[in-house]
Amino acid sequence: MAKLLTIQGGKPLQGEVHVRGAKNLVPKSMVASLLGSEPSQLRNVPEIKDVEIVTNLLTIHGVKVDRDSTGGTMSLDPRETYSAEHSEIDAYAGDSRIPILFCGPLMHKNGEAFIPDLGGCRIGDRPIDYHLEVLRNFGAVVDKQPNGIHISAPKGLRGAKLELPYPSVGATEQVLLTAVLAEGITELKNAAVEPEIHDLIAILQQMGAIITVYTDRTIRIEGVARLSGFKHRAISDRNESASWASAALVTKGDIYVRGAAQRDLTAFLNIYRKIGGEFEVDDEGMRFWHAGGPLKPLVLETDVHPGFMTDWQQPMVVALTQAHGVSIVHETVYENRFGFTNALKRMGASIQLHRECLGSNPCRFGQRNFLHSAVISGPSELKGADIDIPDLRGGFSHLIAALAAKGTSNVTGIEIISRGYEHFIDKIAGLGAEITISER
Ligand code: EPU
Repeated sequence: MAKLLTIQGGKPLQGEVHVRGAKNLVPKSMVASLLGSEPSQLRNVPEIKDVEIVTNLLTIHGVKVDRDSTGGTMSLDPRETYSAEHSEIDAYAGDSRIPILFCGPLMHKNGEAFIPDLGGCRIGDRPIDYHLEVLRNFGAVVDKQPNGIHISAPKGLRGAKLELPYPSVGATEQVLLTAVLAEGITELKNAAVEPEIHDLIAILQQMGAIITVYTDRTIRIEGVARLSGFKHRAISDRNESASWASAALVTKGDIYVRGAAQRDLTAFLNIYRKIGGEFEVDDEGMRFWHAGGPLKPLVLETDVHPGFMTDWQQPMVVALTQAHGVSIVHETVYENRFGFTNALKRMGASIQLHRECLGSNPCRFGQRNFLHSAVISGPSELKGADIDIPDLRGGFSHLIAALAAKGTSNVTGIEIISRGYEHFIDKIAGLGAEITISER
């Protein structure tokens, strides 16, 4: 039965939440363990749906995955892996985007891989052309089948000179996870350099990989014949931290985020402060609050790291509905990441979407038919509404809006939020939100 979350809005969120390992790193580190000849240990693992999906996918390939009682420490033993049945793999079709990263490790282990149709948030077309192109360059043979992709390496995988058309996070991870055990040297130009990529590189280096990152988005990987295991504490989830920071701002609250790491939030914190948020840092985390006075509008453009991340955009748009004046947000990473604004408009926000690039830099989507710029006029009084969650970050943004709004919101589709936000219902309740959960 589906869950219904009822939120009585208008209360400032106050108190503490604990943010653990990054959703956009942990499942990938789990995949990396497949490359080892020995067991690995991963700490700071959150209890989220994406971790559960990858646990199941690893398990059907013979990896023994165990977690301690708090769930935070995971051991992964890949010493007896085998090819899984297609029907077993197919059970995870449409659940996540992580399965595509199994290609390289499974080819190294078993000579072949079957990847089910991918899921993930509907925030754009989200093709996998870069992934398949780099894999072909390593020597893989890709066979598209009705319910997935069969990929094999009949002559083994060899290092290659590669260049991505755009610094894709997933395609960079694909290259790293394939190149480390490929024969010879791989050079990847126009690579993504997000903090989660650096954390994955740290893991692979522990396992015995030789990887050099240059300042111009070039990564060089010298293939080795064998990798061991790793023991690693996952980098904290900067997207979850930014989401709680935005929640504190919009609800005029005050939230201490245990586990938040300032170093990975620089671009976010600049914007946070310009709008009217304040923060303070200590050794364990960060405190975020509304500094008082009216919030200020601004012009914002999302970008790849070290720019303002696309995943921070949606919660920040909710804050901008409360700013005094006109703000512009130009989304340059995904062509369709403003669908969530429909619900905000129903709640009373004034937001217009445009096809033109309204930021200072023209982007890839400018000459095409995508509503990828938003003009937000504020402040708007938000009112409770019935909301069906569309995607992970958009969904969390709806929660923030409902928590700040006057009146009652009835929210369905909250299971999507569990893909990336650990125990979020307990967390918002712990921050003083007035909520009830029922089945419907
Ligand atoms: N792209 C292609 N072809 C490809 C791969 C990507 O055209 O083969 C395009 C995408 O369509 C997009 C752009 O390249 O327009 C960037 O996509 P990227 O590959 O960087 O994204 P991803 O690896 O699929 C990860 C995160 C996203 C996050 C982005 C950008 C995971 C599981 N997902 O996605 O996180 O927004 O990087 O940083 O790591 C989220 O957490 O809510 C989320 C969507």
